[in-house]
Amino acid sequence: MEERFAFLAEWYDPTAALLRRYQLLFYPKDSSVEMFDMKNQRTFLRRTRYEGLLQDDLFVGSRVNIFSRQLNLVGYGDQYTASKLGSKKERTLAMIKPDAVTKMGEITQMIYDANLIITKAKMTKLSWKQAADFYSEHQSKSFFNNLIQFVTSGPVVAMEVMGDEAVSTWRKILGPTDSGLARKDARQSLRAQFGTDGTKNAAHGSDSLASAARELEFFFPSTTGHGPSNTATYTDCTCCIIKPHAISEGLTGGILASITAAGFEISALQMFSVDRANAEEFFEVYKGVVDEYSSMVSELCSGPCMALEIRGTEAPRTFREYCGPADPEIARHLRPSTLRAQFGRNKVQNAVHCTDLPEDGILEVQYFFKILDG
Ligand code: RTP
Ligand code: MG
Repeated sequence: MEERFAFLAEWYDPTAALLRRYQLLFYPKDSSVEMFDMKNQRTFLRRTRYEGLLQDDLFVGSRVNIFSRQLNLVGYGDQYTASKLGSKKERTLAMIKPDAVTKMGEITQMIYDANLIITKAKMTKLSWKQAADFYSEHQSKSFFNNLIQFVTSGPVVAMEVMGDEAVSTWRKILGPTDSGLARKDARQSLRAQFGTDGTKNAAHGSDSLASAARELEFFFPSTTGHGPSNTATYTDCTCCIIKPHAISEGLTGGILASITAAGFEISALQMFSVDRANAEEFFEVYKGVVDEYSSMVSELCSGPCMALEIRGTEAPRTFREYCGPADPEIARHLRPSTLRAQFGRNKVQNAVHCTDLPEDGILEVQYFFKILDG
């Protein structure tokens, strides 16, 4: 029999304001998909080839884009799929500590190089109480006060990292707790490269699945509350959105590293899944003005994106120049060192959105960090 994987998938239908449930089937032999509407018990999509979907993207907890619909895979549809694809996928909490926040691009790249993906991310600044709560297991240790002092000394970036054996894979990337020891015993490790000593050691990783669940809930609460606040300042800033295609192509690390290397400060960062209504509203000014308007909207809501607050002198103007011409082909000819020249594919999938008008910088940052994170 032909190999076939089955999933339970949910799609939020914004027009009907309904959560619709489907059985999603994937046939690896010819990369085709088929969908059944569970409620109405009928075929929703006949078996169709769909090149955009990779077997690696298919596991419970991931979000896939099928013909411009964002589907959440919420369960395995049969035993075979669960045992073949579900066994080793884990989530863990990775946290970039204050000493390595300027290295977030390189660190993100290390995550993707290890075949892990980032499914949530937020820059935040912890209060003493929040940090003490997060590290409550170390309350009685001699290093506790130093540790809390350190992790509250500046912003941190919390991330949900997902993939095969994510907990141990991420701990292996980190290396030994003491950065000095890491430089002796694990020279390629993250702490060897970016850490300073036994306390200032660049990043954190959950030490078990149980800690991961607790720590993810701390930063990304699933039910009540809101988690620690974002760090947007809404002053001297402009807005940059790393587009969904760039995120799913694994370009996030390279883009973040380039932005930092070009001298811009990333003063806030958060991943969002934007729905169509919000994407339309955010791009409202381009409606009827830019031919690509509706494709831009579809791209923005095709998967998770990453919003950044960028600060620097005359940030809106200088950062827009650094993004380059909207069309990456033109950018590659005229401005080869710009972000779009390096990371863009075409006019719609052009790696990043940036604020066009200086007076809109604060408004666009507010749209993401005040309204969508509200
Ligand atoms: P983490 O929790 O941050 O991923 O690090 P870890 O598991 O490798 O280390 P853990 O024993 O859980 O310690 C938590 C953090 O406390 C600081 N620390 N300082 N002797 C010291 O000065 C000392 N020992 C630990 C480090 O920042 C360590 O990551
Ligand atoms: Mg630990």
